[in-house]
Amino acid sequence: MVERTLSSTPPPQPSPASQGRGSERSYPLPRSTGEGKGGGAFLAACRRQPVTHTPIWVMRQAGRYLPEYRALRAKVDFATLTRTPDLAAEVTMQPLRRFELDAAILFSDIMTPLQGMGIALDFEPGPVVREPIRTLKQIEALPLLLPERDVPFVLESVRLVRANAPRNAPLIGFAGAPFTLLCYLVCGRPSKEFAAARAFLYVEPRIAELLLDKLADAMAAYLRAQAQAGAQALMLFESWAGLLAPPEFRRFALRAAARTIDALRTLDVPIIYYANQGATLMESIAGLDVDVVGVDWRAPLGAVRRTLGAEKAVQGNLDPAALFAAPDDLKRHVDLVLSEAGAAPGHIFNLGHGIWPETNPDAVARLVDYVHERTA
Ligand code: CP3
Repeated sequence: MVERTLSSTPPPQPSPASQGRGSERSYPLPRSTGEGKGGGAFLAACRRQPVTHTPIWVMRQAGRYLPEYRALRAKVDFATLTRTPDLAAEVTMQPLRRFELDAAILFSDIMTPLQGMGIALDFEPGPVVREPIRTLKQIEALPLLLPERDVPFVLESVRLVRANAPRNAPLIGFAGAPFTLLCYLVCGRPSKEFAAARAFLYVEPRIAELLLDKLADAMAAYLRAQAQAGAQALMLFESWAGLLAPPEFRRFALRAAARTIDALRTLDVPIIYYANQGATLMESIAGLDVDVVGVDWRAPLGAVRRTLGAEKAVQGNLDPAALFAAPDDLKRHVDLVLSEAGAAPGHIFNLGHGIWPETNPDAVARLVDYVHERTA
């Protein structure tokens, strides 16, 4: 996603008319109970309970495809947005005002807690670490994360969203999975291959494990604090899972993710593990003690569900590019995802990866409404 460019065919930009339609949809009647379209379905689906409709939310639903986000970003840089609770909460809620989404995801970044641990980085817009971490000395010097001290603004943002979310939509807290964080820390910037990070696993496996353990413990503390502040589900993003062959995935990425997840099991909060490009890794992921597995668009959900077994819900997995299809075609693509997901409880509709900044918000409105209509 980082390297993706759309140089040949510029995707449609939202027209003023589409923005008008969006703002018409902006203020659905508030419901306080967490019931109905905005509330119970998401948490029920996480727990594989029957639902009134298939819940849907969209990865990166708070972001640059929304004109109201771009308007705010024109005045405030990204890091400041994430550190200012009023603004982070506002951006978190922007998509919920526009669309009947079934969940909110906190507006923040996977690198935010690392900044709290004293790692200097810039968003350009992808994260760029000023001094990449590659030595034992640097890893040993990494401090523990104490969320209340190091990232209090994140916890305050969680509280603000919980107090104000339209339709009382449930809030997802999140963190980067340890291996995905390692990729950025070792390479220092977004990359297609993350060559230095992968080589690090082979050259210094013990030191890599030490870094992963430290990150796993920090993210466990971070996610626990988000849940204690009010987050109702927790998601771990393994965005670069697909870089690894199954043995390295198990030894490095999965072991560290399991360390984080094991530390959270005493909380009564569903846990979602998202593995981008994880099709070949699902047998390994089946052993992870999570409620939901997030799936990218390359892996058919039917096969994934068979591999994961009946004990896990799935989340996904429409190709973000499908939002550029003509409206009737989009419906067909949605139907395919729904039929792959099957009738058994435990499907949360989502894209297979983050929504593209060039996406027309009208397409998102059509997607959300159609998933609700079709599955009600
Ligand atoms: O709406 C949401 O999903 C919540 C907000 C959110 C952001 N980043 C905001 C953001 C979430 C959940 C993330 C997670 C994240 N960040 C991941 C995991 C999910 C994934 O996409 O695989 C990763 C790998 C990152 C690292 C990161 N941060 C990248 C690669 C980028 C640049 C890519 C991009 O989308 O431009 C960022 C910056 C970033 N994080 C932006 C946003 C809205 C763009 C910043 C801007 O407004 O300039």
